[in-house]
Amino acid sequence: MSLSLSADQPAAPDDADDGVWLECIECGETFAPFDDIRYTCDECDGLLEVRYDELPTFDDFEGQGVWRYAAALPFDSGVSIQEGATPLYEVPSLEEDIGVEALRIKHEGMNPTGSFKDRGMTVGVRVAKELGVDRLACASTGNTSAALAAYGSRGGMETLVLLPAGKVAAGKIAQASLHGARILEVDGNFDACLDIVQELAGQGEAYLLNSLNPFRLEGQKTIGLEILEGFLADYDTVPDRIVLPVGNAGNTSALYKAFRELVQAGELAEDDVPKLTGVQAEGAAPMVEAIENGADEVTRWEEVETRATAIRIGNPVNAPKALPGIRETGGTAVAVSDEEITEAQRDVASEGIGVEPASAASIAGLRKLRREGIVDDDERVACLTTGHLLKDPDAAAAAGADPEPVPNDLEGVLASLASEGSSER
Ligand code: F0G
Repeated sequence: MSLSLSADQPAAPDDADDGVWLECIECGETFAPFDDIRYTCDECDGLLEVRYDELPTFDDFEGQGVWRYAAALPFDSGVSIQEGATPLYEVPSLEEDIGVEALRIKHEGMNPTGSFKDRGMTVGVRVAKELGVDRLACASTGNTSAALAAYGSRGGMETLVLLPAGKVAAGKIAQASLHGARILEVDGNFDACLDIVQELAGQGEAYLLNSLNPFRLEGQKTIGLEILEGFLADYDTVPDRIVLPVGNAGNTSALYKAFRELVQAGELAEDDVPKLTGVQAEGAAPMVEAIENGADEVTRWEEVETRATAIRIGNPVNAPKALPGIRETGGTAVAVSDEEITEAQRDVASEGIGVEPASAASIAGLRKLRREGIVDDDERVACLTTGHLLKDPDAAAAAGADPEPVPNDLEGVLASLASEGSSER
């Protein structure tokens, strides 16, 4: 199986360009990377992966941010707004409360547009330039659209985004709008938007930059590389487990690919690969269902609902890459309720870290798995928080306390302070 942790490094086919090519994960067909536009395999419609004839070692990484990892990417530089190099926060109270040996939060909300999507876009928009396209498009629950709009405008390209009407957080629409995207609100959920935008891209209307695009996942690999380097620096070992929210399962696939490449390069022992642990909201948990049932494929959920709108997704397109990632690393997947997500959002906030609901799902999932004894107390864990609190100000306000109206005088303010206060949540 090409996605096995112990797969050998493949030899470059004739259609490789400077040691880079695309390969179908299902049938193994290979393609030149930049000659034509394609998102899936011409032969069997399987997902594509970017392959390299030379894989880097840790010593090859230099500089800061996503492009520190240029040796693991198809280009040396991209359309950049200084993405990556996000904090790997210590959270001592949460660590003790949840009860693990070490807990760190990799806060991807600290990227330029406030989510991990920037890492994929800096590479994806660079590829779009290589291909000579002038219009970029995506379907989005919000963050992808914000990142696409920002990186597209930075790269001098038109951007088109399809969003599920009424289900995208305010901050994300504001970003897509201000960065100049043409925003189409579809009367349907994210999966419906993706179906349509795939058709548009297939007809040549625009270049697709959803995570179906294998180049985006190359940029997102750098999350995994940063976490590993951070743990090696602080604990002299890689984390036992990485817990992350799952929507389309792009990050799960990307992190797995990063680790597979390190194993192939002899930089990481197979047994040391962190256990990839995915978390979904109960109302949108097709990956969890597949893992629990031991299924090889995910069954699409037509109806999805959760307060964590970023992961309100019923058809995780990267499942064929992510399911082997979870299984081969000895990880698992778990669903959490909206209440558990909000509780986790408050827990993280109490450490001074502001994350949007989908991001808090990783903490909620870790807590649940720890409670169930699936995560041990001697584990060193990294939780990925994927987006910033300000992305979804309504959810943050609803999770926090209400402001208290007071009169315009000192006595009135003192009287209010002396009263109970509103810790209403
Ligand atoms: N967390 C946040 C904040 C997200 O925005 C997303 C995906 C995910 C997690 C899930 O990541 O797809 O790699 O499993 N958001 C996409 C979007 C769908 O359109 O912004 P995944």
